[in-house]
Amino acid sequence: MRATLCSILIGLTFLAISCESTSETENKSVVLIPKPQELVIHDGMFLLSNEATLFATPEFDTASGFLRKYFQQGANITLENTTRNAATIVLQKSDSLAEEEYELQIDGKQIVITAATNAGAFYGVQTLRQLLPANWEQPNSSTASAIRLPQLHIKDSPTFPYRGMHLDVSRHFFPKEFIKQYIAHLAMLKMNRFHWHLTDDQGWRIEIKAYPKLTTHAAFRNETLLGHYNDSPQQYDGKRYGGFYSQEDIKEIVAFAKAHNVTIIPEIEMPGHSQAAISAYPELGCTNETIPVLTKWGVSEHILCPNKETFDFLKSVLTEVIALFPGEYIHIGGDEAPKIQWENCSHCQQLIKTHKLGDEHGLQSWFIKEIEAFVNKNGKQIIGWDEILEGGLAPNATVMSWRGTEGAVTAAKQGHDVILTPTSHAYFDYYQDDHPDEPLAIGGYLPLQKVYGFNPVPDELSETEAKHVLGAQGNIWTEYIKTTDQVEYMAFPRMLAMSEVVWTGPSKNKEEDYLEFIARVEPFLTRLEALDINYANHLYTVEGEIEKRDGQLHYTLTTTTSGKTIKYKLNNSSAQIYEGPIAIEKDASIEAYLEKDGKQIGRTLTETITYHKGVTASISLNTTPHDAYGAGGKNALINGISGSDSRYGDKEWLGFWGEDVRITIDLERPTNIRSLKTRFYNANGQWIYAPPYITVRLTLENGSMQTVSTRLDVAPENTLVPVTINVEKAPAKVRQLQIEIPSYGLIPQGKQGAGNASWIFIDEIIVR
Ligand code: ACM
Ligand code: ZN
Repeated sequence: MRATLCSILIGLTFLAISCESTSETENKSVVLIPKPQELVIHDGMFLLSNEATLFATPEFDTASGFLRKYFQQGANITLENTTRNAATIVLQKSDSLAEEEYELQIDGKQIVITAATNAGAFYGVQTLRQLLPANWEQPNSSTASAIRLPQLHIKDSPTFPYRGMHLDVSRHFFPKEFIKQYIAHLAMLKMNRFHWHLTDDQGWRIEIKAYPKLTTHAAFRNETLLGHYNDSPQQYDGKRYGGFYSQEDIKEIVAFAKAHNVTIIPEIEMPGHSQAAISAYPELGCTNETIPVLTKWGVSEHILCPNKETFDFLKSVLTEVIALFPGEYIHIGGDEAPKIQWENCSHCQQLIKTHKLGDEHGLQSWFIKEIEAFVNKNGKQIIGWDEILEGGLAPNATVMSWRGTEGAVTAAKQGHDVILTPTSHAYFDYYQDDHPDEPLAIGGYLPLQKVYGFNPVPDELSETEAKHVLGAQGNIWTEYIKTTDQVEYMAFPRMLAMSEVVWTGPSKNKEEDYLEFIARVEPFLTRLEALDINYANHLYTVEGEIEKRDGQLHYTLTTTTSGKTIKYKLNNSSAQIYEGPIAIEKDASIEAYLEKDGKQIGRTLTETITYHKGVTASISLNTTPHDAYGAGGKNALINGISGSDSRYGDKEWLGFWGEDVRITIDLERPTNIRSLKTRFYNANGQWIYAPPYITVRLTLENGSMQTVSTRLDVAPENTLVPVTINVEKAPAKVRQLQIEIPSYGLIPQGKQGAGNASWIFIDEIIVR
């Protein structure tokens, strides 16, 4: 085996490379996602003809089955069986490799995949698949009679055992064939868990033979909310909506998943998010009221009552679910269960007394423990959302941490396994771009780069505790996702980034690694197109950033893709080629875009810079913004750029969770100040609450202090709350400004996010 100049070791340099050897002038670019742990490209090519043959260890039936089908459908090649030495492609077993590990060796004669397990062999096959022409993804596409592949050696294994994608089929229902495609797509990316959110307030989606009204009644709602939950007034479409998977459908999907080495984690929500079930069987609730299947989004107060009927129901349901799904885990939900009905229910209160549970959290903990005991007795383990920590964790539960990473930290420190799906990095129902033309989404902001930069192992964990991190998962909640096209738009390309986080491992050098990742994503889009995936493409948006050096502002423009020209217009001037940082000395507007072959590609970036008296100041904070919402750093508050009007997660807004914030702005020299202006975000659905008031303390040139307090009006949901503080009465020039922002505090009952700490989101502080 002779490595040449064009051999590369992944991690040191870009994976997508081209190299030429003297005898052949083939393009040897290798585009693999997720990136393998080790890849060496050798001199020379391998010729794959349509007479290709296969030798596969019988045990590797999943891998060989996939490969045969792929060659047949994609290139009309029937892989005939032959001997180990005569075969074009070999799938062979070696016990010296780890579970899920594989090696792929392509030399002049053969393609050899070595693995210890079917799963490892399957991943070797997925890598081989990505080396084959993208048009093989389309059934019956005609292909050249021979394909040239680079000679190479890959040694590869996953970083995390749990590599997941989730899909909510309750808020919107997606057909069986789409579910299979979704599973196939995640398998291509070497992900191995499909978390199927089958039940919720707005629709029950799995046939349960013992409770037929779940499918005749609970699977349908009378109508659906139009627009955003926060729109006022709320409007409805007046159309009955629903659907469900029969047990036959589920068996078919489970078999399909098995053939793709994917384990399905079914989720049956309890005690909250159960209004659809209670609607069909009112005796499951605390109030016995007749209630409809929920027609709008949000969190319902109708939760399961821990009575005999409910436990009979759940045990029947779980028995049928356990029989259908062969995986180790059943997800039992546990999130967002408002306790108001339990507080007013004599049965619930009696249970709390009898079992000395203390309060309703104790009752929820008791409820989950009862269910866990039943599930364990039937040979399975439970996973629950991080609320199952409240009131005490069930003894064997795995925790899925979604409200940040705190749940994961607490659970792992208690010795429990955890899966990371924090809203900040894993909620693919959030916006992925800050352009106003993006299709309506729930809120938030989670661009591709942020997913790519995710590290599923929280810093707070020791090495031993970190072993409890099984992996991570991207979540797709579908309140605002009505169609399969839209699911794909939200999933791709963010799923590519998540697959790399969980397979290859978190990136160590985020900026450089990200560029190398993008250099693979761009050509990979061809494969997504061949697969007819309706992916989102924001690769061609120019990124702009303010830099402050020696008291002088500069605006820099960058692109993550190569081979394009950045063009910009400053203050509506004619377009020019960007060659370096643009000096900013007064208010300015910039438009920037990418050109390829003389034509604009992608959207135009439009930026407005406000050159106010704070931009040359220095700033300090009493605390640091939350990890997930502090990308711009403290300087984002005085860099002349305001945050997005609709995406609080951009680099310009800073988010703080559950604490008071004090911001100190030191003006370089005593300055006449008239006013301070800023904005707070108020999106109660995401637990973001504008503060009730803010206080500004001025330190004057003469050393004296002056304090101004401003009360903020109670803001409507999902609005920006602008606040201007006039300080014209200051008798002297100002040296320093201190802004005190009290947290809204713990969110009270009756409001969205009740019981949780609230967030503060603050924008640019404009000093005039
Ligand atoms: C969740 O997003 N309620 C788990
Ligand atoms: Zn009750």
